[in-house]
Amino acid sequence: MTVNILQWFPHTTSPFIANAPMFGFADAGLATTVTKAGGFGFIGGGFDFKSESTQLLGLDAQLANARSVLGLTDGQPLPLGVGFITFQLDGLVDNAVPILRRHRVAAVWLSFPRADADHLPIIQAIRRAQESSDWDIKIFIQVGTIKAAEEALRQGVDVLVVQGTDAGGHQWAQGASLISLLPEVRDLLSKAQDTSTAVLAAGGIVDGRGCVATLGLGADGIVMGTRFVATSECLAPSAIKQTIISRGDGGVSTIKSIRHDVFQSTDLFPRRYDGRAVIGASYEDSQNGINDEEIIRRYNEAREAGGHQRRTVWA
Ligand SMILES: Cc1cc2nc3c(=O)[nH]c(=O)nc-3n(C[C@H](O)[C@H](O)[C@H](O)COP(=O)(O)O)c2cc1C
Repeated sequence: MTVNILQWFPHTTSPFIANAPMFGFADAGLATTVTKAGGFGFIGGGFDFKSESTQLLGLDAQLANARSVLGLTDGQPLPLGVGFITFQLDGLVDNAVPILRRHRVAAVWLSFPRADADHLPIIQAIRRAQESSDWDIKIFIQVGTIKAAEEALRQGVDVLVVQGTDAGGHQWAQGASLISLLPEVRDLLSKAQDTSTAVLAAGGIVDGRGCVATLGLGADGIVMGTRFVATSECLAPSAIKQTIISRGDGGVSTIKSIRHDVFQSTDLFPRRYDGRAVIGASYEDSQNGINDEEIIRRYNEAREAGGHQRRTVWA
């Protein structure tokens, strides 16, 4: 017997489907739509946890907005979650966790630490806050390797989000796709006789076929990112949605690389991560021998002119 994740979140229906907490893409609008439809909505909370940072103020406002959209009063639990990117932890415990607690969010999702062990103090702080109030929160950790999964289990997480290398966006630079990674994670849980941790699959799932396949490989539910970007509820510009839906043959039209961040001056992630994105003008320029400085100049020029044609399309 494994855990039944649907029982943790009574508004959800089978199969369990969550949207990924895509920072800058998954706001209250997307998350509440997913939650209202019987899925589990996540808001992307960002990575800057300084007191009153723009990202935290924005998150606070998003959560208030979500409460109003869902017709809930202050103090009622909020049936959605928040994702944080954790390569920079300063202020997370002191400034971000109190926001989650005040809004009584149902889940937190942590991803992309510098070292797998870094999540432990955050998890402990959340558990302490949980014990001293009537706040019920489940902790999700996204993992892309067996080693990271082992560490997350030791830390006592509630949900392992197993991310395969077909995923859009940031991910482990070295990893495996879901077809081999999921059964290995399931075996890890069996060996540890762990029946209390739920497993979700993320990476390349876009429809019922992918969902059924990953449930067959041992997942308790699924997470989709890219598929939710290409929806009218996502705040992404339509040019990005068009790029996603117009591309096929994803193994050829996208590539895993750190270069996507370099071209748009967002190269902040530790080197054990890279990201999968559509091969666009900047990547092609680079292949044609144009240097980074010039590519960044072209990117900035397009952005200042209000165009999205050089923006990285994580997918
Ligand atoms: C546009 C985009 C933004 C993302 N942003 C985040 C993020 O902020 N935090 C995070 O943990 N994962 C992020 N991811 C990765 C997702 O958590 C998830 O692993 C991935 O979307 C699953 O693969 P799929 O896109 O093929 O569904 C992002 C993915 C995309 C496509």
